[in-house]
Amino acid sequence: MIEIQLVDKKFQLFIPNARILDKIDELTQQINRAYSGQQLEILVLLDGAKMFADTILPRLEFNYNAHYQQVKSYQGMHSGGAIQFDREFLNQFKGKNLLILEDIVDTGNTLKQLSTVLMAQNLEQLAIATLLYKPRQMKHSIPLNFIGFEIGPEFVVGFGMDYYECGRELKDIYHLKSQ
Ligand code: IMP
Ligand code: MG
Repeated sequence: MIEIQLVDKKFQLFIPNARILDKIDELTQQINRAYSGQQLEILVLLDGAKMFADTILPRLEFNYNAHYQQVKSYQGMHSGGAIQFDREFLNQFKGKNLLILEDIVDTGNTLKQLSTVLMAQNLEQLAIATLLYKPRQMKHSIPLNFIGFEIGPEFVVGFGMDYYECGRELKDIYHLKSQ
């Protein structure tokens, strides 16, 4: 069993890189089919979704503009309430066809708050693509249009996701080691 230590916690290998890339291939095909011939704005939520975006964006076969925005709600392993958004930045999506790229949806707080602001701007369409989803943690009803892996409530790192800013650069995904 492959194990790593990040800060004070041990993590073990969960989803190897080859499986992540296969899953992103599937998502790429779904997204290419869904948006064929359309013009799309893509909003990448940093820092977590950067590796996901870097992998998927070059394979998209329709016209899009990519936008990058930092959102932060997690401190260590805890989802922390309010999220700060740059409302002026979000204004540019008024009336547009928007796809959000997210690394992982946990409680859904981040996307709930973000989509509430965006929906007030009469978007033509809002869709969400997330590489990972923890259905048992979800506290809101938010439609997720493209989902990579559904996982349990366990904390994960790697492929963009961090524990106290550590582990983002790992090419595989690890989860917290069961004691
Ligand atoms: P939510 O607002 O509770 O849905 O949490 C979403 C954000 O928290 C994600 O964009 C991640 O950046 C972070 N997050 C949630 N779960 C994890 C995890 O297991 N590992 C690392 N980051 C996570
Ligand atoms: Mg994120």
